[in-house]
Amino acid sequence: MPTARQLEIDERVFVDGVVEHGDERGRTLGFATLNLGINHDDLTTPDGVFAGYVRLADGSIHRTAISVGRRATFYEERGLRLLEAHVLDFSGDIYDQHITVEIVAALRDQVRFDGVEALVAQLRRDVVRCAEVLSAIRPSVRLTKPA
Ligand SMILES: Cc1cc2nc3c(=O)[nH]c(=O)nc-3n(C[C@H](O)[C@H](O)[C@H](O)COP(=O)(O)O)c2cc1C
Repeated sequence: MPTARQLEIDERVFVDGVVEHGDERGRTLGFATLNLGINHDDLTTPDGVFAGYVRLADGSIHRTAISVGRRATFYEERGLRLLEAHVLDFSGDIYDQHITVEIVAALRDQVRFDGVEALVAQLRRDVVRCAEVLSAIRPSVRLTKPA
């Protein structure tokens, strides 16, 4: 596993959006994700897997593993480009809430897995890695104390 690349404070990416309904396959995989409705032309982040934080509408901040990509395991290159956040210490329905994601470190590239089991095994490793990386990186003031 390559080391994570921590983003410099001025490189951090903030993404605002409303939580949309997705395919909801993530729940059956054991990795529910929040799908953020965003205009991908405005998202400068390349496809990949990232560690970060999310601020929910109630102001609470949570650690999150983030996927930006087309879910090639299921859709090859024809899938919609999505930003999905798997929130580490949260479960619940928050559709239609306005949330903000802060991306603080890059973990790996997107991969087309040879089936769901291989994807889920990697997601488990991603979550462990994400927690390790975030233990040394705080969310920025811009996230915790928005103007
Ligand atoms: C941390 C993380 C990493 C992911 N990495 C990949 C990946 O490398 N390849 C891939 O095809 N999908 C990846 N995904 C997306 C999953 O395929 C997707 O979350 C799953 O299919 C459920 O999505 P759905 O509920 O919108 O269908 C990743 C998701 C997360 C949360």
